[in-house]
Amino acid sequence: MRDFLRLLRRFVPPYKKYLGLNILMTVLSGLLTLVSFGAIVPILNVLFKIETPETHGYMPLNWDTFSIDSFKEVLQNNLNTFIVDATQAHGATYILIILGLFLIITTIFRTAAMYFALYFMIPLRTGVVRDIRNKINDKIISLPLAFFSEERKGDILARISGDVNEVENSIMSSLDMLFKDPIYIILYLMGMLLISWQLTLFVFVMLPIAGYIMGQIGKKLKRKSFEGQQQWGGLMSQIEETLGGLRIIKAFNAERKIEERFHKINEQFRQTTVRIFRRQQLAHPMSELLGTVTVAIVLWYGGTLILSENSPIDAPSFMYYLTIFYMIINPAKDLSKSVYSIQKGLASMERVDKILMAESNITDPTHPKPIQFNEQVDYNDVWFKYKENWVLKGVNLTISKGKTVALVGQSGSGKSTMVDLLPRFYDVEKGNITIDGTDIRAAKVHDVRQLMGIVNQEAILFNDTFFNNIAFGVANATMEDVVAAAKVANAYEFIIATDDGFGTNIGDRGCKLSGGQRQRLSIARAVLKNPPILILDEATSALDTESERLVQDALEKLMQNRTTIIIAHRLSTIRNADLICVVHEGEIVERGTHDELMTLNGYYSRLCAMQSV
Ligand SMILES: Nc1ncnc2c1ncn2[C@@H]1O[C@H](COP(=O)(O)OP(=O)(O)O)[C@@H](O)[C@H]1O
Ligand SMILES: [Mg+2]
Repeated sequence: MRDFLRLLRRFVPPYKKYLGLNILMTVLSGLLTLVSFGAIVPILNVLFKIETPETHGYMPLNWDTFSIDSFKEVLQNNLNTFIVDATQAHGATYILIILGLFLIITTIFRTAAMYFALYFMIPLRTGVVRDIRNKINDKIISLPLAFFSEERKGDILARISGDVNEVENSIMSSLDMLFKDPIYIILYLMGMLLISWQLTLFVFVMLPIAGYIMGQIGKKLKRKSFEGQQQWGGLMSQIEETLGGLRIIKAFNAERKIEERFHKINEQFRQTTVRIFRRQQLAHPMSELLGTVTVAIVLWYGGTLILSENSPIDAPSFMYYLTIFYMIINPAKDLSKSVYSIQKGLASMERVDKILMAESNITDPTHPKPIQFNEQVDYNDVWFKYKENWVLKGVNLTISKGKTVALVGQSGSGKSTMVDLLPRFYDVEKGNITIDGTDIRAAKVHDVRQLMGIVNQEAILFNDTFFNNIAFGVANATMEDVVAAAKVANAYEFIIATDDGFGTNIGDRGCKLSGGQRQRLSIARAVLKNPPILILDEATSALDTESERLVQDALEKLMQNRTTIIIAHRLSTIRNADLICVVHEGEIVERGTHDELMTLNGYYSRLCAMQSV
């Protein structure tokens, strides 16, 4: 329950207004229920021709000596007086019509109040879920890349879709019950106390016992639900992996293998679900049973009271009492059901919170320094690891302004890692990276990234127009700027050949385009941003020779008058670099110009020899 209150405190405050209106309406409908069923007593009196007690004419309420008992007495007396008078004047059937009308009218107001209570709850429910989704999305964008190598994508998707839905279904749908039911229960109990405190005392003893029994069942449910949602996450991961790898799965005839793997975890998920549902379904029969037991006991006790001499309660009032008591059972049942639902929802919320509460370790310092790039970038004894093994071991490198530095080496040697540290996709473990002597961690992340443009092996495009894809990193780009950038990147021709030119939508991840076209678009994006530092990580290695020529040409234009770090698979593309560094197992083992390295006759010359074969 504490978890639940904390959840409310986190997400409900913006919707306080709606909650207030909801509670107000609920109280109103509860009161109207009591009042409208109050008509039962006189109706029964009339029907069973029970002697009406002697009346003293209409009595005013004396506020000075006000007490519950005197209030009851006055109310009862005045009502009886009215009925006796009216019966004498118009007959018993007339009274029945009046009482029937009274019942109808109060019920109209009561149900209207109930409707409006729900009406005001809806903006709260939907609002909270929207806020949670927005928060997850914003959090995902702000979290460092390192977070996502640990958490699998499918699992994150499962959290956004499945778990947030679960929160909506279980917690939010229980929310109105959770505010409504206790109010009803309290109001009805008060009404019952008013009718007969002796009977009500009895009920008070029964309720906590029933509550305890129900609570015990709920506890286990949360743990099982957590397990279930976790397995659902695994399932989503699997589907996501399968979708991405269909081509390979088919090529390697691995359908059976993947099928079996999926069926296995699907079955596990089902087994957990079976246990969850069974336990959840227990709530209904349990509360039914407990309710009936209580009613039976109350009937017995009430009966003995009525039959005894000097009964504190007459039969019609007892019927009224039972009616109200019967009406307590439903909210009490709903309440126990919503306690179960909430347990289930809280399990999902815990998983959502694993994202929401994740700390981003790549953040702005409290007093950020301004950062500029006029001289050089320095890697000073940089050490880095993703998990246990060091991936970079003491890298020292200076990149002077305007120069082109190339990194070469086997795949897995740590080249991409090296350049990923510069825009702070990851932070160094030991040592530091400085730009003009300022540690990049001392400046704002935004300012550091503003200095850089990145073109990767795989062009990352969005389901949007050519224009928006090129203008992605620049606010208020004009059409002239975008066209100019596209021309530099050799992308202009194929863009204007499409139906809507720059306004053409490129489709999901640019799937309508060839690899070379996609790459030229991401180059155009870098051209438009016009960053002082350019990072090219195998920008041409995924391309065929023909499109590589166009892309290479675009890259060369982009590199002019710029500081560039280039990682290239094909050594021919970096021949003219000012400095070539050979990276081997996380260290720079050779450095120099092409000619210098060739004469060294070491790693580099061996790499060149391999490629010319
Ligand atoms: N996100 C990651 N999580 C864990 N290990 C990684 C991650 N990215 C790369 N590695 C590991 O770090 C090493 C260097 O990788 P990388 O820098 O990509 O090499 P290169 O770009 O030279 O091919 C490799 O052993 C690789 O397995
Ligand atoms: Mg790489």
